[in-house]
Amino acid sequence: MHRRLLLAALGAAAVSLLPAARASAQGTLNLYCSVQIEWCQAIATNFQRDTGIRVNMTQRGSGETLAAIRAESQNPRGDVWFGGTGDPHLAAAEENLTQAYESPNNANLHSWALKQWQQSGKRAVGVYAGAVGFGFNTELLARKNIAPPACWADLLDPRFKGEIQIANPNSSGTAYVVIATLVQLMGEDEAFAFLRRMHPNVNAYARSGTGPIKAVARGETGVSISFVHDAVTEKNAGFPVAWATPCEGTGYEIGSMSILRGARNLAPARRFYDWALTEAAQRLGFEAGGQLQTPSNRNAPLPPNAPDLSKIRLIDYDFAKFGSAAERRRLIERWDREVGALPR
Ligand code: F6P
Repeated sequence: MHRRLLLAALGAAAVSLLPAARASAQGTLNLYCSVQIEWCQAIATNFQRDTGIRVNMTQRGSGETLAAIRAESQNPRGDVWFGGTGDPHLAAAEENLTQAYESPNNANLHSWALKQWQQSGKRAVGVYAGAVGFGFNTELLARKNIAPPACWADLLDPRFKGEIQIANPNSSGTAYVVIATLVQLMGEDEAFAFLRRMHPNVNAYARSGTGPIKAVARGETGVSISFVHDAVTEKNAGFPVAWATPCEGTGYEIGSMSILRGARNLAPARRFYDWALTEAAQRLGFEAGGQLQTPSNRNAPLPPNAPDLSKIRLIDYDFAKFGSAAERRRLIERWDREVGALPR
């Protein structure tokens, strides 16, 4: 009798352990995320719900994430890096910090997303695209009687003294795309002369790429140099924000995704990667996170009122050159010396 009870108890214990054992068998994913927090949270929650895989998510800017991945390279803590500008993903690929993967869902991607994948040796794939431009607070500029900027050249005008915000390229991928864009439009020395001349008009070099447009939305600064999709997000949230793309032409990002070299959770990482390229996952950026980038899945619609890249004068951005680790480091060091170090 005693033995029968014991067996029954053991049986019950085994059964009650089963769901827990199944849940942990689905695994864990350490997700590094470089889009806005609302979108990072939406993908973490939805992927966890769809697959049962537990997601630990860390949100940081593109440059900050690259620095973290470098620092952890001997003992990688992350599995997948989702989002952030494409240049640091290319630098990570070149530095062997990420690993090659071919998703079956590549078949549904736009050619620009696959170009990133090919250029990175199959280590980074495009998940969205977006153009650089200006965001401005319409009420603030009207009150101060300042005409909004239409061209890069306008940003040097004294009417914008102390009125512009842009991010710091050490932490922000957005700011690096701006520098690379100016170098491609003007030549390197001219671009740095431009940045030095613009400095008196800049009131802060923010840590994250979206910091300046959020400051515009709150009325703390009149103008930001930002990805224009982020200006629409603020406008949709009810702030008096408008945007423009520079008359001389502008650069753009291929927001990317990479699996880290040495990922401890490789199967969940690949599952996430495949999932993030689906139409349903790519709709989440707008539907759950209010984000307005151009999705890389051809079947995912451009969100309503999102900037249409085919109508913007884009430069032929040289991703191979400006995504190279040495070029990126050199340009950021030059910015530190010649612009970041200038007195305020
Ligand atoms: O999530 C908004 C966004 O502008 C993305 O389009 C871009 O990849 C990312 O932020 C860049 O952020 P940061 O400049 O902070 O690296």
